[in-house]
Amino acid sequence: MADFLSLILFLLPIYIANSIPVLLGGGLRLDLGMGFSDGRPLLGEGKTLRGFVAGVAGGTVAAGLLAALYPLQWFPTPGSQFLGGALMALGTMCGDAAGSFLKRRLGMESGKPFLLDTMLFLAFALVFVFPLVDASLYSITNLVFLFALTIILHPATNFIANKAGLKKVPW
Ligand code: CTP
Ligand code: MG
Repeated sequence: MADFLSLILFLLPIYIANSIPVLLGGGLRLDLGMGFSDGRPLLGEGKTLRGFVAGVAGGTVAAGLLAALYPLQWFPTPGSQFLGGALMALGTMCGDAAGSFLKRRLGMESGKPFLLDTMLFLAFALVFVFPLVDASLYSITNLVFLFALTIILHPATNFIANKAGLKKVPW
């Protein structure tokens, strides 16, 4: 029987890392304004250095609090849970940038909705945390739950961020 509350807590550093750049992003672009051989931006205007760093930092802080308050069964110690959460935050932001790279190569403008970029940041986070978790985390039931919840929540949080005036488009 999968423990869904633990899975939701496990996801928090990922969701926090992914949400914070909307609030704190801006300034120098992660691609430094560079283009790719196809003439399109490497990553685009939606990926900034400050957003990336703030996302990793915010996710790491969340992981530290969670490790202290709610030790999760897939990590051998709270310390490894903290480090694992930090790696997940880093993976989230790398996956987010990889999603933008892919979208630009497909000719999609910054900010256009794309299901694959939602799945990609979660997939990157799950790969980054791999060295620190018990393999039982990657059961089919858990993976289905993690991806299904993220696919449902990502558009919902984007919609709320748009209504709150934090995001230009509701996706
Ligand atoms: N953001 C940022 N730096 C990042 C990631 C996000 O500054 N590394 C900010 C940007 O203001 C961005 C917003 O958060 O517009 C929403 O992020 P996201 O949805 O990931 O970017 P998009 O604007 O949709 O661009 P893309 O199509 O490249 O995903
Ligand atoms: Mg987007």
